[in-house]
Amino acid sequence: MRTKVIRWNSSDGYEITDLREAAGIIRFGGLVAFPTETVYGLGCDGRSSEAAAKVYEAKGRPSDNPLILHIADREMLDDLVGEIPEVATKLIENFWPGPMTLVFTKSDKVPKQVTGGLETVAVRMPAHAGAAELIRAAGVPIAAPSANLSGKPSPTDAKAVIEDLDGRIDMIIDGGEVGIGYESTIIDVTGLRPVILRPGFITKEMIEEVIGKDSDVEAVIDSSDDSVTQAPKAPGMKYKHYSPEAQVTVVRGDEAQVEEKINELVRQFPSDSVGILTTEERRNIYDYGVVLDIGSEKEHTLGQKLYASLRDFDRFGVQRVYAETFFGNDKEDALMNRLMKAAGGEVIDLRNYKKVVFVCKENLNLSPMCEWILKSILMDKSLEICSRGLVVLFEEPVNAKIISVLGKHCIPCRDQVSRQLKQSDIDDDTLVITMSFTEKVKVVEDFGMTEHVYTLRELVGLEDDVTDPYGGDEQAYEDTYKELKDLLYEVKKRMGWV
Ligand code: TXA
Ligand code: MG
Repeated sequence: MRTKVIRWNSSDGYEITDLREAAGIIRFGGLVAFPTETVYGLGCDGRSSEAAAKVYEAKGRPSDNPLILHIADREMLDDLVGEIPEVATKLIENFWPGPMTLVFTKSDKVPKQVTGGLETVAVRMPAHAGAAELIRAAGVPIAAPSANLSGKPSPTDAKAVIEDLDGRIDMIIDGGEVGIGYESTIIDVTGLRPVILRPGFITKEMIEEVIGKDSDVEAVIDSSDDSVTQAPKAPGMKYKHYSPEAQVTVVRGDEAQVEEKINELVRQFPSDSVGILTTEERRNIYDYGVVLDIGSEKEHTLGQKLYASLRDFDRFGVQRVYAETFFGNDKEDALMNRLMKAAGGEVIDLRNYKKVVFVCKENLNLSPMCEWILKSILMDKSLEICSRGLVVLFEEPVNAKIISVLGKHCIPCRDQVSRQLKQSDIDDDTLVITMSFTEKVKVVEDFGMTEHVYTLRELVGLEDDVTDPYGGDEQAYEDTYKELKDLLYEVKKRMGWV
């Protein structure tokens, strides 16, 4: 098959004959790759199961992995979905057109081949003018996954699409480099609370701002990936990642540590076969190897060049890539998520704790609560987690209110009695987390610890102590649960725990 390449740009748009031809290909069941603000998509008629089958074939992607339907206006949505929940309406009003995909219950008009056999359908209204025009001209929703071969990074320019799909599809629309550079945020709105299935440019904080913090957006469990072979929504499943040919290793730690370690690591290899992935601002601190960046922090374009750089490493024949960690940026969920997939989970952790001890005064309220919440949110069970008290005169059962709050949130916790913190609880790779500054000082003094002891809030860059619910009513305990849960998710993220 010959693949025709046409052009779109933001000042002139399309040649009218080109647009007609592209729309015609879609309507007659063919495949057109087109730019969006996130990544390039491989589009086909969203009402046609035959066209969807061609998309799977061209990408080499398993056909039980659902596609996203791209629409140009609100009217197109009504045909595709069953119910539109109130929370979805709020999200749509704020973030469409834009880099957000919503998962709804599907209507009969959407073929099961498009949704990979699911009763739900993913829909997105792209903000890219060229994409919107194409959808309007075709007059049908366009089903499109990212326009890469399965297992490769998503394409962020036409060059990458050509590299993967030339000769396999009818047309490629060259719209230059995309603006965002990584895929849309996917939010499932079919349940009681919205669940982020894939982090993206629209962050959890932005979503909460729109729907209210109380609505409790479920934390990211990214179950959405190109090569997922089981039905999505199964948190914790193992998937094949999208990745470059080069072997990518993420180096985790604080900035100075990471820089030193990467400089040391790259020198084991010839300079032209080893790569470093950093930000535009930090590029010149490295003077060895092929140094590429993921975009600029200053212009809020971090991530724009992530996939392009991963592909460039392959083009340059780089065998090994060491990537920095991109914490502390508001898009860090999305960026680290993509990077960890590219790395296939290979990480050098410069702060490799094997054990976490939560400490509060009596080990009856806050510290056991932290222990059980953290146990419930970590999949990696090799990290030992426990809790201790600083003043445990005699062993007492953990406060029944704690057990009850945790039970309400389906967090398992067994009967447990309070225990005194001892020197034998702490060794070289133990992280001690206290609830208050006073407790931290006491641990430092009593156990001579000069590092690896933090207050919980300090660990995530906040001041003050966590609130002790002791003596309060049920609501007080519920509030504490929420506070601790949010803090611990943040700790998990920052420590790179899985
Ligand atoms: O930014 C984007 O979303 C880009 C552009 C082209 O719009 N598209 C994109 O498509 O990233 P794709 O196929 O590479 O990723 C879509 C993901 C799939 O991996 C799939 O697991 C998930 O969306 N998905 C689609 N329908 C779903 C559904 N009904 N329920 C849960 N997940 C779904
Ligand atoms: Mg994809």
